Amino acid sequence: MAKDKRAYECNDCGAQSPRWAGQCPQCGAWNSLVEVRAAAPAKAAAGGRGGRSWAGESRIETLRGPQAEPAQRWPTGFAELDRVLGGGLVPGAVILLGGDPGIGKSTLLLQLLLRLGEQRAVYVTGEESVAQVRSRAQRLREPEADLELLAETEVEAILGQIEADPPAVLAIDSVQTLYARELPSAPGSVAQLRECAAQLVRFAKQRGVAVLLVGHVTKEGVIAGPRVLEHMVDTVLYFESDPAGRLRMIRAAKNRFGAVNELGFFAMRDIGLQEVRNPSAIFLARRPEPVPGSVVVVAREGTRPLLIEVQALTDGRGGRRVAVGVDGNRLMMLLAVMHRHGNIDAQDQDVFVNVVGGVQVRETALDLAVALAIHSSLRDRPLPLELAVFGEIGLAGEMRPVAGGEERIAEARKQGFSKLIIPQANAPRGRVAGAQVVAVPSLAAALEAVRDLSD
Ligand code: TYD
Ligand code: MG
Repeated sequence: MAKDKRAYECNDCGAQSPRWAGQCPQCGAWNSLVEVRAAAPAKAAAGGRGGRSWAGESRIETLRGPQAEPAQRWPTGFAELDRVLGGGLVPGAVILLGGDPGIGKSTLLLQLLLRLGEQRAVYVTGEESVAQVRSRAQRLREPEADLELLAETEVEAILGQIEADPPAVLAIDSVQTLYARELPSAPGSVAQLRECAAQLVRFAKQRGVAVLLVGHVTKEGVIAGPRVLEHMVDTVLYFESDPAGRLRMIRAAKNRFGAVNELGFFAMRDIGLQEVRNPSAIFLARRPEPVPGSVVVVAREGTRPLLIEVQALTDGRGGRRVAVGVDGNRLMMLLAVMHRHGNIDAQDQDVFVNVVGGVQVRETALDLAVALAIHSSLRDRPLPLELAVFGEIGLAGEMRPVAGGEERIAEARKQGFSKLIIPQANAPRGRVAGAQVVAVPSLAAALEAVRDLSD
């Protein structure tokens, strides 16, 4: 190893600097620099020690060699979670499950380990005692499976315990409590996190063990200080909650074995987490009489279409723009396009837009819904209750197609919506039984369609 030089590392962004400072020169965070031993931990995190790969001996091969077996998958017993994972746990894959404290990460972990069935699992608990885990398992009405529990926080000790006979699945709750014997820095520091995760990743790849890492999200909304773990693992899942607190959503932010942005829905009950199979029904459950400023969008998160209500409120005061669940810049852009190409002026109004149910919608198919909701609020006229819309709006006021048009229409029909306004390029080939589908080329045409459908 290189000689033991001193260095300082930022706990937020992971940047290293040769001397201590009150503020990180890289990201500007205050009081985030901690002392680390230079070089060694950073190298380990970069993928190997002294040039050795995870899998031991390396040699150059050609592309046309033998292929990997189609990845085997172990279902977790939660269809919602399996979809987010891309079909279940993959041997040798490392999954990071991030979320706020108290959101239900430990509960989910325990439930899925109990549902694994055939696969042997070891649950390493660094935050709760074994007795606490036992009593939690008592209240969950899960299959009578036994589970191996280990209360330990030293990563070498954990790996030492299971090395001789590794389980199929290793769960670590939480990765922030771990420490590596060799490192001087405190558990939870960037250097420790990196080194512990690197050791676990190496073990997972070498022994084909699926590793689940629980990570607490800090108040800045990133896992454990830094994004340092995200690039080391195969899959990053975030556990989110709606503001009302009933619904839990799991989102894949990164997935080497499946689609990203796939969403899984759960509800927290007194017997643990329960899957929500028809989230559209929950999001639309409390829709009142037709009110101005409300419209239903057929969004698509991952591969599943989802009906969500979008609300807008315009109020004649001071030009403020507040976007909840939608991108603020996108809202600004839409307001400009509406002004220019739809003759809708909300210049000196406060404009509030909210996606009901606390989902973050990151796709442009929301554009038309946002525009129509704002328009409806400005005119103080409700849109028809049986109307659902989707579509992207371009800067020239044109309606642009979005992916998955047919599935979106089918989902809207399934939930009982009989009027649809969609982009022209998404027009279905045949007639849609029992529904009036208006396919429009522009925002102006969409506004006209609203007028027609409202009569
Ligand atoms: P937990 O899984 O401990 O959260 P995390 O590991 O993410 O910190 O969940 C804790 C919360 O969930 C706690 O407030 C109690 C609640 N809870 C239930 O409502 N029902 C249950 O069956 C369980 C086990 C927990
Ligand atoms: Mg926990």
